Amino acid sequence: MKLLLCCILLCLELLAKAEKIIIVGAGASGIAAATRLIENNITDFIFLEAEKRLGGRIHSIYLLDGNSGGHVDLGGEYVGGEEGNVVFNLSKNELKHGDLGKRTTTFYSDGKLIDVELSKEILLFKEHLRDEFEGKQPISAADAFLERYNSTILSKYKENPEYLQKATDFIETCENIFRFRHGAFDWSKILLNDHYRICKGDQNLNWNGKGYRHFLDLLMRKFGDEHRLRLYPIFYSETVMKIMWNKAGKVEIFTERDKKYEADHVIFTPSVGVLKENHEKLFEPNLPANKVNAIKEIGFDSAMKVILQFNEKWWDDEVLDFIFVWNKEDEAKISKEYQFGPKKEGKSWLSTFHRMFTAPGMSKVLIGWFTGPLVPEIEKLKIEEIKNGVHYVIKKFLGKKYNVTEPYIVIPSTWYTNPNFRGVYSYETVESANRTKQIQEDLGEPLLNKDGIPVVLFAGEHTHKTHFSSVHGAVESGYNAADELVKYLNEK
Ligand SMILES: Cc1cc2nc3c(=O)[nH]c(=O)nc-3n(C[C@H](O)[C@H](O)[C@H](O)COP(=O)(O)OP(=O)(O)OC[C@H]3O[C@@H](n4cnc5c(N)ncnc54)[C@H](O)[C@@H]3O)c2cc1C
Ligand SMILES: *[C@@H]1O[C@H](CO)[C@@H](O)[C@H](O)[C@H]1NC(C)=O
Ligand SMILES: *[C@@H]1O[C@H](CO)[C@@H](O)[C@H](O)[C@H]1NC(C)=O
Ligand SMILES: *[C@@H]1O[C@H](CO)[C@@H](O)[C@H](O)[C@H]1NC(C)=O
Ligand SMILES: *[C@@H]1O[C@H](CO)[C@@H](O)[C@H](O)[C@H]1NC(C)=O
Ligand SMILES: *[C@@H]1O[C@H](CO)[C@@H](O)[C@H](O)[C@H]1NC(C)=O
Repeated sequence: MKLLLCCILLCLELLAKAEKIIIVGAGASGIAAATRLIENNITDFIFLEAEKRLGGRIHSIYLLDGNSGGHVDLGGEYVGGEEGNVVFNLSKNELKHGDLGKRTTTFYSDGKLIDVELSKEILLFKEHLRDEFEGKQPISAADAFLERYNSTILSKYKENPEYLQKATDFIETCENIFRFRHGAFDWSKILLNDHYRICKGDQNLNWNGKGYRHFLDLLMRKFGDEHRLRLYPIFYSETVMKIMWNKAGKVEIFTERDKKYEADHVIFTPSVGVLKENHEKLFEPNLPANKVNAIKEIGFDSAMKVILQFNEKWWDDEVLDFIFVWNKEDEAKISKEYQFGPKKEGKSWLSTFHRMFTAPGMSKVLIGWFTGPLVPEIEKLKIEEIKNGVHYVIKKFLGKKYNVTEPYIVIPSTWYTNPNFRGVYSYETVESANRTKQIQEDLGEPLLNKDGIPVVLFAGEHTHKTHFSSVHGAVESGYNAADELVKYLNEK
């Protein structure tokens, strides 16, 4: 009797696990793919998601803020552009314009404001650099910047030692800004004239305290059409370890808990960081050579956000964005003044804390950024240690102008340490510039089995040819993978 029951349960279990489609990863691209499948009346799919939550690199957390509260983002935060932006299309009425960029203020490590004109000049120079090299030979952000900088800014201020010094100190801040923009550890690896294309319009639209997570709710039609939510069956804490894709019949997936799933088709969405670390173990047989090369050549490092909440707002409404420029002497001195924490080539981790944004829709929250190769070590510090270091830097730069208080909530991101991400967003490297096929095409190419059936499709920001590294790129890549599958299923 017991045995029979066991058999029945086992059979049920086996039956339940054969799916038509399995989507690996419930981030922006996976959810977009599911949405598109549902639109085509395909509901026979499940998600396997390694995290305990939905959203992947979209991760909004709720903070109380005075009498009310709001969301801040540890991952994707701004909607970049309007024209041709699928995220903007779905949510224009919910987004708020910000004056970010217009209200940027640059401070020096002696606590003084940097001359506004000089600061604007250098930041604009940095902004326009890419246009200047459009269509030219592939060049790294570092080479392009230094070459042009020497022939314009430095030669202009040759006769003005004070400005020359400040301008020279600014180089490292620009290096930090490039590393932050591309999520790269080293700006000499970043391809400046890459394939990324900006959507025209406001580059910093924000969710005004609703968090980017709100977009996923819009995408899933959570509002007004509740029943649709039930069509997204997500299995959480289910880490895919192996995908056997070239057998006759179904694709077999094994997860960390030793569960086996079977499907006709798989849509695989984890980051390039996950692929770089695990592709050999994840796929059996191994991925084809062009894909392996692309995984090696594409850039994927990290940068780190620190969310800081204060008891009171000690800054003023005029500033939305603080940029920090270290003077070389101060930078050398911190290792003595503030000995604690990781260092590289004599430079303290604190010298890469170069920027703080005010959090949209929140009155007492700032979001700071660390960049560079020390990020993996900084992520491992204790919260108290990060808090003390950050407080020291803020006081140093802003203490003369403001009565800086200690943050009482400090939430650092851990995108690099987390094995489900291993970094922030993909970038094109100089090394990847001379390929015959664009790197994202290799990354997005489906795996066909022996019978020529597309059994594994790839989506994710890194597979988008012009909007990689963004949420709108991720969403479009999910739509593309689903469309490809729908087309195949309709033609079959
Ligand atoms: C700090 C930060 C700031 C950003 N800022 C912006 C911004 O302002 N604007 C913007 O447009 N974009 C921004 N981005 C980028 C944007 O968030 C991402 O491009 C986008 O969210 C990626 O979506 P995705 O679906 O491609 O990948 P992911 O969101 O990474 O989804 C993949 C999913 O796969 C899961 N997974 C991984 N491995 C496994 C496994 N073995 N088994 C099962 N599941 C697995 C992961 O947990 C994850 O949920 C930012 C990103 C970060 C990290
Ligand atoms: C999905 O099903 C509905 C209801 O049966 C039908 O009206 C619609 O045309 C179908 N859509 C597609 C894309 O097949
Ligand atoms: C945005 O919406 C417009 C109008 O509905 C449509 O023509 C366009 O293709 C959409 N663009 C994207 C990127 O979704
Ligand atoms: C720019 O100038 C600096 C110092 O003046 C020099 O060290 C550097 O090599 C120059 N870089 C380029 C790319 O010309
Ligand atoms: C800082 O605090 C001191 C003492 O309370 C006060 O006199 C001063 O005006 C404050 N400065 C600012 C910028 O708020
Ligand atoms: C790319 O190709 C150009 C022209 O063939 C060459 O000059 C350049 O050095 C190459 N760059 C890399 C990184 O291989």
